[in-house]
Amino acid sequence: MSSSPDAAVEVRDVVHTYGTGPAAVTALGPIDLHVPPGTFLVLVGASGCGKTTLLRLIAGFEQPTTGTVTAAGRPPVPGRNAGLVFQQPRLLPWKTVGGNVGLALRYAGVPRPERSSQVTTLLNRVGLPHVAGRRTWQLSGGQQQRVAIARALAVDNPLLLLDEPFAALDALTRERLQEDLRRVSVDTGRTCVFVTHSVDEAVFLGSRVIVLTSRPGRVALDVDVDLPRSGVEPDELRGSPEYAALRATIGHAVRAAAA
Ligand SMILES: Nc1ncnc2c1ncn2[C@@H]1O[C@H](COP(=O)(O)OP(=O)(O)O)[C@@H](O)[C@H]1O
Ligand SMILES: [Mg+2]
Repeated sequence: MSSSPDAAVEVRDVVHTYGTGPAAVTALGPIDLHVPPGTFLVLVGASGCGKTTLLRLIAGFEQPTTGTVTAAGRPPVPGRNAGLVFQQPRLLPWKTVGGNVGLALRYAGVPRPERSSQVTTLLNRVGLPHVAGRRTWQLSGGQQQRVAIARALAVDNPLLLLDEPFAALDALTRERLQEDLRRVSVDTGRTCVFVTHSVDEAVFLGSRVIVLTSRPGRVALDVDVDLPRSGVEPDELRGSPEYAALRATIGHAVRAAAA
């Protein structure tokens, strides 16, 4: 396979093993992934199948034991080539909401005079106008996670990596954030790699869903989600026969992979 400079993410023949000798744990692979720009890729798989490991490899926090990972044709640079969102928002409590997003802009090299207007733009994007001056602990869990997404969007790079970002939220807040993230991904054209346990979340968010096997994680199923990305009401989408069919297919694969 030749190198594909047009890929937002390219994972080639990757195996990742933690530790050495008898204590070695092969967490992932062998796995190959080719992710074109603008894809909303959702990874679904049982706990411990290597989803976080795969995201860490794409973020450049971890080097593959064998094989190669590239983002936009280059080896990933930690903190530079992707914005990250984790299960917990991990905001800095001693800074305001705007201060948290502003700091990310500073690291991204945005000149100080431009930061304040960009903070406003980013907070508007995630549905949080008028909170820049608030303390992070004055916000609800869902609002804090919105700030974490705004902060990840501040990184001047098209790649957004999200590791079970809505798992700790109540069902209603979770649906809201899913709807808004879906819209943000369309509006910004970002390539997203999103990890979840939830089949529903995968079908709703993904333009493509990959189900991983139990450890070591390999591709068990790779499907394109052919649902409209814009101009349709979320309820209409969730109620459509296509949605139900995909949910059944993916749900079946998840259960088979975990067995
Ligand atoms: N730093 C580490 N050292 C040793 N083993 C690890 C480490 N991180 C993860 N693992 C192991 O690798 C496997 C995959 O972990 P992880 O990628 O976190 O899975 P997931 O995110 O799918 O739950 C698990 O069995 C886990 O215990
Ligand atoms: Mg994980």
